Amino acid sequence: MTLIAPSILSANFARLGAEIKTVEKAGADWLHIDVMDGHFVPNITIGPQVVADIRPESSLLLDVHLMIEHPEILIPEFAKAGADIVTVHAEACTHLHRVVHQIKELGVKAGVALNPATSLTWVEDVISDIDLLLLMTVNPGFGGQKFIPSTIKKIYRARQLLDENRHSAYLQVDGGINAESAEDVVNAGAEVLVAGSYIFKSGVPEAAVATLKGIGAGLDR
Ligand code: DX5
Ligand code: ZN
Repeated sequence: MTLIAPSILSANFARLGAEIKTVEKAGADWLHIDVMDGHFVPNITIGPQVVADIRPESSLLLDVHLMIEHPEILIPEFAKAGADIVTVHAEACTHLHRVVHQIKELGVKAGVALNPATSLTWVEDVISDIDLLLLMTVNPGFGGQKFIPSTIKKIYRARQLLDENRHSAYLQVDGGINAESAEDVVNAGAEVLVAGSYIFKSGVPEAAVATLKGIGAGLDR
């Protein structure tokens, strides 16, 4: 089953509550929350307080994508704020195994993200420990970038890696997802589609969510 995770990065933050309600009503499955520190990526976004404020306002699963250095420092704060999934970048963790288990010990699902240029081998040895594998389909840092087609091969290979080892971790993709790229990534085996600008900058977020859900339902394996 394909799940849709709107990224609030492209929402209007002055109307965040209403924007979240709109995608929730449209049938979004998760809410993707992008956390940036100005170091790991050249942009700054939001911290744990925003997650804590969203938590009582939405029943959607809160999927927190940490694009920060030293994520181990803030992970407890995001867990306390009500995150359901916390994803860290393999590139930002010297001790990835320790960080994955830190997240799980807090009762939160653990995800690992890889940039487009990072090999799948970086996660092979923790694959059975994680709940989600996030393959970036743009270089992280900004919404509205163009999908990088060469990532499709990696999605196929990740699907194979998970299936061969009977791992049930979600395979998530993030960056440049729209009606066109969604078809390619779902065919390659992605299950969770993060989309920011395609949904929130479309003028009709409910229609964009419905379109992505329809593509997923039509192609589900
Ligand atoms: C990029 C973020 C994404 C971003 C995607 O660094 O991780 O979640 O919001 O935005 P779009 O869908 O516009 O590429
Ligand atoms: Zn993201």
